Amino acid sequence: MDKPRKDTLLLAAGVLGAFGAGLAAGRSIARAAGPGTTKEGLPRASLLDTLALGLEVFAPLVAQGVIIRRPPMVALAERLDLDRRAVQRMQKLRDKYGRGPLMLPLPIRQQAVVLDPGHAKRVLDESPEPFSPASTEKRAALAHFEPQGVLLSTGAQRSERRRFNEAALDTVNPMHRMAAGFLPLVEEEAAAMLAAARDKGSLDWDTWSQAWYRMFRRVVLGNSAADDHELQAMITRLRGAANWAGFHPTMRAKRERFLARIQEYLDRAEAGSLAGYMAHIPRNSTTEPRQQVPQWLFAFDAAVIASFRALALLDSHPQATGRVRAEIAERREMHPLPFLRATVLEALRLWPTTPMILRQSTARTHWEDGSMPAGTGVLIHAPFFHRDDTRLREANRFAPELWLDDSAARDWPLVPFSDGPVTCPGRNLVLMLSSAMLANVLDGRKLALAPGRRLDPARLPGTLDNYRLRFTVEE
Ligand code: HEM
Repeated sequence: MDKPRKDTLLLAAGVLGAFGAGLAAGRSIARAAGPGTTKEGLPRASLLDTLALGLEVFAPLVAQGVIIRRPPMVALAERLDLDRRAVQRMQKLRDKYGRGPLMLPLPIRQQAVVLDPGHAKRVLDESPEPFSPASTEKRAALAHFEPQGVLLSTGAQRSERRRFNEAALDTVNPMHRMAAGFLPLVEEEAAAMLAAARDKGSLDWDTWSQAWYRMFRRVVLGNSAADDHELQAMITRLRGAANWAGFHPTMRAKRERFLARIQEYLDRAEAGSLAGYMAHIPRNSTTEPRQQVPQWLFAFDAAVIASFRALALLDSHPQATGRVRAEIAERREMHPLPFLRATVLEALRLWPTTPMILRQSTARTHWEDGSMPAGTGVLIHAPFFHRDDTRLREANRFAPELWLDDSAARDWPLVPFSDGPVTCPGRNLVLMLSSAMLANVLDGRKLALAPGRRLDPARLPGTLDNYRLRFTVEE
């Protein structure tokens, strides 16, 4: 058996075995430890509910890979509809325990789960203090490749690195200041991708993702990085280790080689790339530009996944495809393509690529029903808020209109890019590049999913396995 397959089977067996044993033990203890409240007044989950949460919400996400996806596990999650079950489990907890935050009786740490939309908003608005994004598990994972990245930074260092990220990524502008240089790169890579798809007879994940990787290496590091597959292999390996967080030894030498390679590109500062653009941004001794870049390279994966899923959504929604075609036909230079952006945002709402938004409180916090000690881990499960069909009419259907007015901000926490002061600073850049990629691919051609893979618009799946999507391309 090949190694990845063996690893995956071992992982699956491990996760299921651990939870099975836990559940069996939990049943006997649960009689003694039912639901209640903490001494500070917040609802506390019973042991059985905590185990169910572990089994149905945490385990599928961890098994699918938090930092880099494991394709066989994503396929399994789709087959067993695991992400829909996770939302249903969260709904049951909310119905049983009320607004929360719900405290979990874990032996090793204080952990809370957010159940109320107002609380989700508060946690995100009050980040990074007192709700720090640099939670213990995030530190353990991301330190494998970016120990001084903004997400893991605190205090004055965080402020400086955040400022630098916002300046480089031109966070506030729908069209990045470098758009005129970036958009032709997207066009070139889309054309090469379509030629490769023609040769193969269809557009599959491999062809799609390789073109994207080339494109964003050129955007971030410059044209000389277009074929730097070694760099891609390094980050893939480091992210693989990060999936295991603290259970995998840190590969210091590999991490150093990877960061040194990034530094070479930053020193080269090629015109027309972010590396070149960054060279003019002021910095101080704590900025650590080379440690900010890994997050960018890593986060582009989410765009590759979401935009491929967006193609699947359009395939099963002819009316929306008509609107996309009209938008492409009217496209002028530097057009922000709002409907295509909304389509990508919908792919991210329906299948969030950051399903667990994690925080850790730095001080005691007070809530309607009680208080929470400092150091508590706080989980916002994005799919629960995005797909709660008891509260959100559009939960399980494609509704790009949610993003075309201000309803995404008004009605309910729709937070694929997080929100508040720690919100993704790459949001506009990534939406600009994704919508441009889709416009180039769809311009003058029809992409169709193979029969049997088409989505049912009335009941979109809880998980959509992007690795198995394959489109025929008709010119
Ligand atoms: C579809 C693609 C993307 C999605 C869905 C996404 C989503 C997110 C989310 C949810 C967070 C917050 C994480 C947390 O609160 O723990 C985040 C943070 C961040 N993202 Fe993105 N991201 C994407 C692409 C990008 C890209 C392409 C870049 C850079 C080029 C980027 C740069 C960052 C940075 C620097 C942070 C850390 C912000 C901070 O700690 O203040 N992201 N992203």
